[in-house]
Amino acid sequence: MKIGIFDSGLGGLVIAKAIHKMLPAYDYVYLGDTKRMPYGNRSEEAVLEFTKEGVDYLFRKENCAIVVIACNTASAKALRKLQREYLLKNFPDRKVLGVLIPAAEECVKFKNVGILATRGTVSSNTFPKEIKKLNKEIKVFQNSAPMLASLAEEGRNNLAVPFIEKYLKPLLNKKLDALVLGCTHYVIFKKEIRKIVGKKIKIVSQDEIIPRKLKKYLERHREVTRKISCTRDVKILVTDKTDMVKKLTEEWFGKTKPKLVTI
Ligand code: DGL
Repeated sequence: MKIGIFDSGLGGLVIAKAIHKMLPAYDYVYLGDTKRMPYGNRSEEAVLEFTKEGVDYLFRKENCAIVVIACNTASAKALRKLQREYLLKNFPDRKVLGVLIPAAEECVKFKNVGILATRGTVSSNTFPKEIKKLNKEIKVFQNSAPMLASLAEEGRNNLAVPFIEKYLKPLLNKKLDALVLGCTHYVIFKKEIRKIVGKKIKIVSQDEIIPRKLKKYLERHREVTRKISCTRDVKILVTDKTDMVKKLTEEWFGKTKPKLVTI
């Protein structure tokens, strides 16, 4: 069986790359719903429906033992329902993990935290709720960046900088000590964001958190880990094979030469 990683598009691929780097022995299959991204501006019903379809494909067709939803929007809007309803009914012995709570857990070290995320993640209020569950004294400020995930799908690109500046402006007035990149696509702009926020603000970025959390999870849950095959196979599935998918796949997984397949 494999480890599945799911996102609306290429943001999750940055997380997949980081997971693969830390845990290269396992077999992976990535699914990016590139045809229907962005998820961030969609209704809760649509995000749940699309995420369920993606996860279901990874379980049924790809025989995944565990799926990481490397998408904050889906982690905020669909993960709980999938775990409580879909998974229990269909695959009670498999696991679905999200990326939002691990990032919220990193925020306990800070006092004033900014969250930059999609409109859907911001309106769900999941980041503030999860952070305040851990420490209600932490001040949490959010802003949505509706265009940023789509710009990220175009690769790192100076065109995005004025948008990033505009989206960060209201947060930077708040004396932040940490900024959460609350959408996996924004990791692609980490360097640009660092330039704007300066050195003093800690950037909480899921490519630096999720591999370590997954490693610990797999160490704790041997019943899952022993089902995962270790032939170092990497496969990337997309619902629409764009030029950027081809380019980034080659750039990031060059040596492993993953199969890139449209489903
Ligand atoms: N990468 C996703 C997230 O972390 C979703 C971006 C989108 O499709 O809008 O929220």
